[in-house]
Amino acid sequence: MKELNLAILGLGTVGSGVVKIIEENHQQIKDTMNKDLNIKKILVRDVNKSRPISTARYELTDNIEDIIEDDTIDIVIEVMGNVSPTVDWLKQLIQNGKHVITANKDLLAIHLKELEDLAEQQGVALKFEASVAGGIPIVNAINNGLNANNISKFMGIFNGTSNFILSKMTRDRAPFDEALTEAQELGFAESDPTDDVEGIDAARKVVITSYLSFNQVINLKDVTCRGISDVSIGDIQAAEAFDFKIKLIGKGTYANGKVTSSVEPTLIHNTHQLAAVEDEYNAIYVIGDAVGETMFYGKGAGSLATGSAVVSDLLNVALLFESKLHTLPPHFELKTEETKEMIESDAPVTLKEKESFYIVLQNANQDVEQLEKSLKQDLPFHKSLKLVNRDEQTVAALVVGIDEAPGNILSTKGYEIEKIYPVEGV
Ligand SMILES: NC(=O)c1ccc[n+]([C@@H]2O[C@H](COP(=O)([O-])OP(=O)(O)OC[C@H]3O[C@@H](n4cnc5c(N)ncnc54)[C@H](OP(=O)(O)O)[C@@H]3O)[C@@H](O)[C@H]2O)c1
Repeated sequence: MKELNLAILGLGTVGSGVVKIIEENHQQIKDTMNKDLNIKKILVRDVNKSRPISTARYELTDNIEDIIEDDTIDIVIEVMGNVSPTVDWLKQLIQNGKHVITANKDLLAIHLKELEDLAEQQGVALKFEASVAGGIPIVNAINNGLNANNISKFMGIFNGTSNFILSKMTRDRAPFDEALTEAQELGFAESDPTDDVEGIDAARKVVITSYLSFNQVINLKDVTCRGISDVSIGDIQAAEAFDFKIKLIGKGTYANGKVTSSVEPTLIHNTHQLAAVEDEYNAIYVIGDAVGETMFYGKGAGSLATGSAVVSDLLNVALLFESKLHTLPPHFELKTEETKEMIESDAPVTLKEKESFYIVLQNANQDVEQLEKSLKQDLPFHKSLKLVNRDEQTVAALVVGIDEAPGNILSTKGYEIEKIYPVEGV
């Protein structure tokens, strides 16, 4: 029986999960692949550090050249993180004819297309299932399961840390700082939580998911990105009064020939499936023209959940390896000649469908009824408007089915806007 030699870069949370899954299922993997899978080398920073798994049978190295230059290694799993020097190492590995599997969303949000093109040139596979929503097989679902569809929209909870914090704020009325401290104590948040709570981690996943869904490269800086640190208990209560929950939603839409992408606190109606996604869980909702609405739910992080996605890539690469089918065909392209022209034009994006917004306004001692009357007159055509007192100084308004984004219009008319969040599921 032939051997398939594997190297793993990184033996932290995800790396240990990958090794554990491979060890526990060694015989099944061997039977499925008809090859003996051999973990030949593992790259770490510190070869003497004590590890949560036994490493006695593996060759640990702190020198990447030991792996790049080893012609017997067929597949490399990168679970070490960071953009630099990792991206240069991945390029060298691909150039040396090795298939690469990575969980590294930080790196892919910038270099995915470049690495994919290089892998195609070299005739090797580049797989990254674990980079979006950890254990949820969303990459494979969009690339393969939904490849008979034109995808017009996806939206989802891409970050477990912020979802845990918002769930805690909603359930226990715990303020943001207290909920964050509990997330850190339970290991759901890093000691520096900036990327998670400010939406940056989710934005990276939105970049990758937009590329998969719409076949278009978007830049991280083009994702409108707002985190949850300004969500207050007052907002959560106002949202509840309107029958909504607040979630940090990453979204990509393809409308008027343009991709629009964002990560923002969003009001989700309680009847929408995303409203029921609590704590550290992730969920992604995708709309395809043939299939309609779909939703994928599960753990977005963790040693074994993320390891599951990495090992799934490993099996796919190993199985496709012999048949030379390294890249399955992507789903249908959404771009027609007409939409390509629109993508290249600088015309401003207008709201295609009627949209809905949650608006917090300073209430300069007016009563709510008076404010409602003036808003009804001042807002462009809208289907419905509801108001509740948010606190002593502010009023929260829910505007449903409006023709134009309300921010500029209200500002020019002298309203003092504290915040505007999008609304979904109405
Ligand atoms: N954690 C999750 O649940 C999760 C979920 C989805 C995706 N991811 C992605 O998976 C990747 C790994 O995450 P993780 O949580 O497993 O990280 P981690 O626990 O910090 O582990 C990183 C590992 O990489 C090694 N490493 C880091 N820099 C290195 C360098 N320059 N040279 C050699 N070895 C180096 C470290 O070696 P030492 O042990 O010797 O320090 C460590 O073993 C990241 O890209 C992350 O974004 C993680």
